[in-house]
Amino acid sequence: MSFKSLFKKEKKEPTLSDIINGFGKTFSYNQVMDLLPLFSEIDRETILENINKKQNAIWDSPKQVKYYTEVHPYVPFASEHFEDVVKAIDIQDDETLLDLGCSVGVFIKKLTKIDRKGVKIIGIDYSPNALKQLEKELKAIPRQNYEIKLICQNFNKGVPLPNSSVDKVVSNWGIIYLGTEELNKALGEIKRVLRPGGKFVFSALVKGGANIQFESFDGFLTLIQSLFKKWKYVLKALQFEKKCRGYFPEYSQEKLSGMIERAGLEILGSKYTIKGKSITFVVKNPK
Ligand SMILES: C[S@@+](CC[C@H](N)C(=O)[O-])C[C@H]1O[C@@H](n2cnc3c(N)ncnc32)[C@H](O)[C@@H]1O
Repeated sequence: MSFKSLFKKEKKEPTLSDIINGFGKTFSYNQVMDLLPLFSEIDRETILENINKKQNAIWDSPKQVKYYTEVHPYVPFASEHFEDVVKAIDIQDDETLLDLGCSVGVFIKKLTKIDRKGVKIIGIDYSPNALKQLEKELKAIPRQNYEIKLICQNFNKGVPLPNSSVDKVVSNWGIIYLGTEELNKALGEIKRVLRPGGKFVFSALVKGGANIQFESFDGFLTLIQSLFKKWKYVLKALQFEKKCRGYFPEYSQEKLSGMIERAGLEILGSKYTIKGKSITFVVKNPK
């Protein structure tokens, strides 16, 4: 029985304040979307505005910024994942890269360590606190060959860059937090700003991802050892995931593939990481 029909059957349709107060806890993002048709247009707008505010408050909270700075890059398997994404970006001399949802700059900081000339990076994020933290850290990094510009803006407002102005786009667990309509628009914006032949590296935590598979007993032991050594990071990451899960949409790999292709982009390949929790698509803007 669907969530919506459960309410209908008991004749206990949720009120506007039930939805607003229960968002993220009683009602997950996907459940609220399922219930939206029960409300008037004005109420739907109120609900969506409220969701956007709550999500922004999560990302911008000092606790979250601290988590992204001190824990996130060190969670087992995340560091390997980041290296994979950096490799997939494959930054070259004189390229312009757009990082959508750059936060405290895990990728920007990693890229500046690669010896390249004339690289320009534009990071967009709507968390002023995350960008402040990144600016502070960037001051301490010697990066004369990299020009970095940070823009504090909601993806919903589009990408403030001209057509075909970037060579590469990365969005690692960034635009994936948008609802379906906004995500479609964001993919359209990526297609617009990416030069023909340009590359887009897109990572997303997905529901029903690939299962954990071990090639050997040694592989299993390595996993246990790594979890044990870094148990504090694992615990914090699990707490974080549990807290945030209900506030954001969940997509399947199939749904995302369809959306990318409908935006006129071409999927060159994809790879599951984080033991099947995340998928990275390597995408091309066809010429
Ligand atoms: C899970 S973090 C990922 C950070 C970074 N890309 C990384 O891999 O470490 C998601 C980031 O996307 C940003 N974000 C989410 N929704 C956004 C939106 N609608 N507009 C702008 N930024 C958004 C958040 O502020 C947050 O910093």
